Amino acid sequence: MAPKLESKFEELFGLQRRVAIVTGGAQGIGAGIAKLLADAGATVVIVDLNADAAQTEARRLTEAGGAVFPAVFDISNEAAVIDGVAGIVAQHGAPWILVNNAGIQKRKTFFETDTEFLDRNHAINTRGTFLMMRECAKAMVAAGNGGRIVNIATLGVMHPMLLGLVAYQSSKGSVMAQTKAVALELLDAKITVNAVLPGGTMTPGAAAANETAPVGPATRGFPLGLCQPADIAAAVLYLASPAARCVTGQSIAVDSGFLVS
Ligand SMILES: NC(=O)c1ccc[n+]([C@@H]2O[C@H](COP(=O)([O-])OP(=O)(O)OC[C@H]3O[C@@H](n4cnc5c(N)ncnc54)[C@H](O)[C@@H]3O)[C@@H](O)[C@H]2O)c1
Repeated sequence: MAPKLESKFEELFGLQRRVAIVTGGAQGIGAGIAKLLADAGATVVIVDLNADAAQTEARRLTEAGGAVFPAVFDISNEAAVIDGVAGIVAQHGAPWILVNNAGIQKRKTFFETDTEFLDRNHAINTRGTFLMMRECAKAMVAAGNGGRIVNIATLGVMHPMLLGLVAYQSSKGSVMAQTKAVALELLDAKITVNAVLPGGTMTPGAAAANETAPVGPATRGFPLGLCQPADIAAAVLYLASPAARCVTGQSIAVDSGFLVS
């Protein structure tokens, strides 16, 4: 790359000396995001429930040249989030980037959906996103350097894709609403809050959800093909970068042409 272009890219997308927290970074889309942010120079903390997978992924990315650390806690548990984020801040300093990616995507038909299932989806996808934003934003505001929050919702909030997602889509609809509400709250602190809406993406979680899915047609296919985690990570990198300084309260669907087809 020409030297001038290289330094411009660095100014726009470089994340050196930035701390990034990626929830659910032990596998799937989160692992793709952790890798790209580490490649861009960030110190990345993978927050995940799965201790073995988080440690393995952090080691793998560090061996590949990144600075990636695991932190094991449940984002749906308020006390665990308060302690967990405080521990990360004590060890690495305040985050400049938070990517709220951890989520569950199990499927049940509307009539099979009981309140326990509904509440479990909301506890992780909705409450977990809220708790992580609140605790990380406190540290970001105290540090006074602005910041970036990127929430992973789903294309399903724009248009249903598959049967069995009423609990999931309602939990992610709240993620969209929180994105806009918190973007307004954090304007003065120069912390931007945006969302990425993945369409069908090849991950262990999606494969497991499809195994037990209700039988019925998907509304339509993905003309540009199923996404890989790296495709979602690329949109996250933009929103998490210095380049996106003037973008807040917005969402980007990475949907392989689903909505326009
Ligand atoms: N894969 C898709 O097709 C797709 C489409 C749209 C949106 N999404 C969203 O993208 C995100 C990532 O999806 P994926 O397919 O990579 O998922 P995945 O199931 O493969 O990985 C999710 C990760 O989150 C972790 N996690 C789950 N609950 C947690 C909790 N309470 N606390 C901490 N960590 C927890 C898991 O251990 C796992 O490592 C999710 O929010 C999902 O809803 C995925």
